[in-house]
Amino acid sequence: MTWEETIQSIRSKPEFVTLVHDAYFDSDLVSNVERFRSGAEFLETLRLLKLHRPDATTIADIGSGNGISTLSFALEGYTVFSIEPDPSLTIGAGAIRQLSTHYNLDAKVKVAERFGEDTGLQSGQVDVVYIRQAMHHAYRLDGMMNECYRILRPGGLLFTVRDHVIFDDKDKAWFLEAHPLHKFYGGENAYTEKEYKGAMQTSGFEILEMFRYYESIINFFPMTEEEVKNLATRKENEMLKPLRNRVGVMANISFVREWYKRYRKFNPDAVYDEHRVPGRLYSFIAQKPL
Ligand SMILES: C[S@@+](CC[C@H](N)C(=O)[O-])C[C@H]1O[C@@H](n2cnc3c(N)ncnc32)[C@H](O)[C@@H]1O
Repeated sequence: MTWEETIQSIRSKPEFVTLVHDAYFDSDLVSNVERFRSGAEFLETLRLLKLHRPDATTIADIGSGNGISTLSFALEGYTVFSIEPDPSLTIGAGAIRQLSTHYNLDAKVKVAERFGEDTGLQSGQVDVVYIRQAMHHAYRLDGMMNECYRILRPGGLLFTVRDHVIFDDKDKAWFLEAHPLHKFYGGENAYTEKEYKGAMQTSGFEILEMFRYYESIINFFPMTEEEVKNLATRKENEMLKPLRNRVGVMANISFVREWYKRYRKFNPDAVYDEHRVPGRLYSFIAQKPL
């Protein structure tokens, strides 16, 4: 199946309702944009973007999919060069063109059916390169980073968000196995932190910030900050369930609970161990030196 066929087929399957909603894969393109631009992930992205490049007016959005980020940036007033190789009317360049017409933003949104390794943009043309969940799809990571460097003006910002990170080959195999859509279209991929950083630095970028999975809502959204904070408590409650079933209210006595936790080797810090999250997502902010 192609990527487009995969998304079309999961839209009607009840077991994928949450994924379709959370990944903004609904067939109603406008509602995807509206949900994305008002969500905590995009608001944090905008905050960081304005913090690092308050003067930016032009953005290249590479691997822009169905246009959620392209339109969200354009609605904020940026001129957006949307680079998306897939022509699809529902999850690719065709969708982005429909959206830009819908929002009357054709003057602000320029769509090119091209790859991030060869965008067709001029050298130094943009202030920011934004890549959401697409750097890990690069067919040549170094080629994509070289191209981002070329099209940015000196001092310009590279902002890559939500890319899958793997620790080694075994971890990659686990990620691909766990990925809900890889079995349908076979196009998933991931790189190590060292490979992402290496490609950026070899191209000439200075890395300003790197956010591991639990370090930014940009990565763990749609989970909220509150849900992440409460993860350890939730896991502890799950772990205590058998004790409650056996001894009832006695499980509320703290030394009984502490004994049981030790017996079960419960470590609240391990809840936040990224090794437990297949293909955990990272984000990077890098700069082309002045
Ligand atoms: C997971 S989707 C992300 C789409 C969108 N950025 C989003 O966050 O919803 C990955 C996108 O990258 C595109 N893509 C794949 N290889 C690419 C490449 N080499 N250069 C640019 N885009 C690519 C795909 O067509 C797809 O639309």
